[in-house]
Parts: sequence; structure tokens; C-alpha cells
Amino acid sequence: TSGLPVFTQEEVTSHRSLEDGVWVTYRGAVYDITDFVAMHPGGDKILLAAGGDLEPFWALYAVHNQEHVLEILSEYKVGVL
Ligand code: HEM
Repeated sequence: TSGLPVFTQEEVTSHRSLEDGVWVTYRGAVYDITDFVAMHPGGDKILLAAGGDLEPFWALYAVHNQEHVLEILSEYKVGVL
């Protein structure tokens, strides 16, 4: 295994505000993106994915389909599902 903590979907779902922290999932990994929200080039839209999966949103906003976006995301990894 990766050695990272395993979280349940419920734990991820409970982090969907700046107060409680903003967590998202992507391809089986969990990310705490709280500190990135204010730096997001797409602004508050990022909060639409709070507590859930990035995939449907990134399918819609293809600007994320770039290596450098995945590099940013990887910095915020905190665990796996
Ligand atoms: C743009 C990262 C989630 C909507 C971007 C860019 C980055 C980024 C790096 C600039 C890309 C470039 O121009 O090269 C992220 C990360 C996310 C995330 C790390 C999650 C952790 C979302 C979500 C949405 C969204 C969930 C929509 C619901 C947008 C939009 C832009 C954008 C609309 C284009 C902004 C513009 O150029 O005017 N994002 N994003 N993003 N993002 Fe996100």
C-alpha cells in the first residue's frame, strides 16, 4: 500500500467548507485542498467539488487536463479512499 491513511467517503464528505476544510477525491486518492482554494485560477468554482470527486468537473473543464495541474493536486494528497 501507499502508507497513507485510508479515509471513508463519509470522512471526505464532511470536509466541504473552508471552516471544516475542503477535501476532494480523484482516482482513489484524497486531497485536502483547503489552502489551494484561494489560489485557484478558476476562483470559487472549485468549491463545487468540495467533499466529492473531481472527475466530473474536470471532464467539464478540460483546462485541468494538463500535467502541471496534476502536479499541483499531488501536493495536497493526504490519503486514499
Ligand atoms: C483553471 C487547478 C478544481 C474550474 C485552473 C487552473 C489550475 C486549476 C491550475 C489553471 C490552468 C491553466 O490555465 O493552465 C485546479 C485544482 C482543482 C480545481 C488543483 C481541484 C483541486 C476545479 C473545479 C472547477 C474548476 C472543481 C469547476 C467546478 C476551473 C476553471 C478554470 C480553472 C473554470 C479556468 C479559469 C480561467 O482560465 O479563467 N484550475 N482546479 N476547477 N479551473 Fe480549476
